[in-house]
Amino acid sequence: MILTNDPTRLALTAVCLAGYGLVCLLPWLRLRRARAAAQAARAGGGANAWIVAYASQTGNAEQLARQTSETLRVAGVANRICEFDELEQADLRSTERILFLTSTYGEGDAPDAAASFAQRLMTRTGLELQHLHYAVLALGDSAYASFCGFGRALDAWLHGQGAQPLFARVEVDRSNADSIAHWRRQLSHLVGTSDAPDWSAPAFADWRLAARRLLNPGSAGAPLYHLELEPAAGALPAWQSGDLVQVAAPGDAERPREYSIASVPQDGRVHLLVRLHRQADGSHGLASGWLTQDVPAGGAVQLRLRQHRRFRLEDNAERPLILIGNGSGIAGLRGHLRARVQARQACNWLLFGERNAAHDSHYAAELAALEAAGMLTLDLAFSRDAGGRVYVQDLLLRQADNLRAWVDEGAAIYVCGSLEGMAAGVDQALQQIFTSTTMMEMARTGRYRRDVY
Ligand SMILES: Cc1cc2nc3c(=O)[nH]c(=O)nc-3n(C[C@H](O)[C@H](O)[C@H](O)COP(=O)(O)OP(=O)(O)OC[C@H]3O[C@@H](n4cnc5c(N)ncnc54)[C@H](O)[C@@H]3O)c2cc1C
Ligand SMILES: Cc1cc2nc3c(=O)[nH]c(=O)nc-3n(C[C@H](O)[C@H](O)[C@H](O)COP(=O)(O)O)c2cc1C
Repeated sequence: MILTNDPTRLALTAVCLAGYGLVCLLPWLRLRRARAAAQAARAGGGANAWIVAYASQTGNAEQLARQTSETLRVAGVANRICEFDELEQADLRSTERILFLTSTYGEGDAPDAAASFAQRLMTRTGLELQHLHYAVLALGDSAYASFCGFGRALDAWLHGQGAQPLFARVEVDRSNADSIAHWRRQLSHLVGTSDAPDWSAPAFADWRLAARRLLNPGSAGAPLYHLELEPAAGALPAWQSGDLVQVAAPGDAERPREYSIASVPQDGRVHLLVRLHRQADGSHGLASGWLTQDVPAGGAVQLRLRQHRRFRLEDNAERPLILIGNGSGIAGLRGHLRARVQARQACNWLLFGERNAAHDSHYAAELAALEAAGMLTLDLAFSRDAGGRVYVQDLLLRQADNLRAWVDEGAAIYVCGSLEGMAAGVDQALQQIFTSTTMMEMARTGRYRRDVY
């Protein structure tokens, strides 16, 4: 060791040591403060309660938010769970601890449940949130150019308003279990608990492919198959129209594929519509290729049901329904129609787009029967038929007056199908017909719901 009496060097060393000490101390100080806050929330609840805010399109962030909230509750920390869109500026001003859990959609965009939050609050600056301590769990998929784009933008915005991170943003690539475990550990550390509830995702179960048929022979589009599945053993589990399944494709259990359920439990089977996906080189998509070409009749499929609360009927069960979609999106809409038949709710309007009437009129007989029974108003747009390209968004504009009348009567709007091409066009048409403020409000109150992918 070289000893020195040089005062400049000594001063520099002291500054360095002090700096290092501070760096080491800061996380400890933060943790102490957070634990003190947890203590306060334990003692008082009310004004000291933490907020667990989530924005989720297909339920991942929501499920993790519920587990986060439960972990806090088990540790005795009072907390309120809510969607981003329920948050007001006053909440940010009056709350000291908020945990934000969000996914990213579109290309780096907020999920629908955070669209109003992003517009109302994240466009503001100078909010002076120095009192607010927060953490961000950002869900995403690194296959997208803007990985965790919305979670990152949220983190940067909060930081820009002076809010203090409790710990560094946790990013989760395709539901990666290690990253989720990291968030859970940070949380347990923060609230000082070691007995957090089990967070493992429900296991996949063995199902059996009971039936499969091609719906669109001769179509200009990719083949679309109707599949029926039943549990390999035991009773059919419960689900609601709007829910999804996840399928574990062989060799890629890490990245389960989602499919909208096209049936209700009364049908006795889970019905899916699977479009055979083709890669740029012509090879088949892994899951859709396997499900539509390789699994033999009676063959085993690893599957689990997922609640998709954002697309369920819930409070809208008594309202008139406007169902809008294209292509395989008929799956989620058919699920709702079958639920409406069970509930004897006759006020349903389906506006649906595909390519050719001759090849792509999925479930034509079934829909015609509903129409004949007075349970369905049906409007179809075929983009490749003679008479010009008509898309489902064109139908909406043509029917603007009727749509306004339905919405005045209290109707809810459900959109299912492709994000590219359809969802943005439909959203634009709806904003044109109803104004963007009305659509934002309808989304916030759950009367405008989307399952788009
Ligand atoms: C909420 C939701 C509901 C859905 N509902 C339906 C439905 O009802 N019917 C339906 O047909 N589809 C539905 N989908 C789409 C479905 O989940 C699959 O994405 C689709 O079947 C293609 O999967 P695949 O395995 O066949 O293709 P993949 O093999 O996954 O290929 C699809 C694309 O992903 C890319 N890719 C492949 N492997 C990787 C990898 N390891 N990492 C990153 N990128 C990769 C490929 O380049 C390709 O462009 C839904 C999706 C969501 C999110
Ligand atoms: C249509 C679509 C678009 C997506 N866009 C992005 C994106 O731009 N960036 C990203 O990181 N992840 C993106 N994702 C991945 C989701 O964020 C990821 O699957 C997440 O786990 C979904 O969580 P949720 O169920 O809470 O919505 C996208 C997923 C879908 C289906």
